Amino acid sequence: MSKSVEQTDFKLSAETSAKIDAIIEQYPTKSSALMPCIWAITDELNHVPAGGVDFLVEKLELTPAKVHEVLSFYTMYRTEPQADNVLQVCHNISCHIMGARGVIAHLEKKLGVRMGENTPDGKFRLEGAECLGACGHGPVLQLGKHLYENLTPEKVDGMLEDFKRGEVPRADTDREVEE
Ligand code: FES
Repeated sequence: MSKSVEQTDFKLSAETSAKIDAIIEQYPTKSSALMPCIWAITDELNHVPAGGVDFLVEKLELTPAKVHEVLSFYTMYRTEPQADNVLQVCHNISCHIMGARGVIAHLEKKLGVRMGENTPDGKFRLEGAECLGACGHGPVLQLGKHLYENLTPEKVDGMLEDFKRGEVPRADTDREVEE
């Protein structure tokens, strides 16, 4: 049996709680609302902590194993606090052929980190990702729900300038979930 949500430090804002209730209403079964509910928690907390898993288990009437299965399968979900911006560069074959290696090397140089590392200020994390389903537009990079395509070192520089101004670069594709 899962721990009561009240026994953990996990707390959502009233706004996110209402959003989750609204999401659940839109799905034929509670369990099918799992992924958008994970996004709703991530949007507020930046990751899904252990208490969030308990919350989802109770709220969606799922087993802890089912919630962990989905959280661990998709690379954009996190169970630990993450850097403000997790840049996931596809390093699979199509993107590799289209220049992913040069883009990764450029990002490593500009951010001063290697793949799999966070910048000391916690603003960025650089990661590799398996095929992101946009092979015809490679090299591509995913930032949360945003996808950036046809990357070049120059395009990456423009993105980093946007971040410096406190703006999220305009994405080529937004993978918004239905809410
Ligand atoms: S190989 Fe990069 S998106 Fe498919």
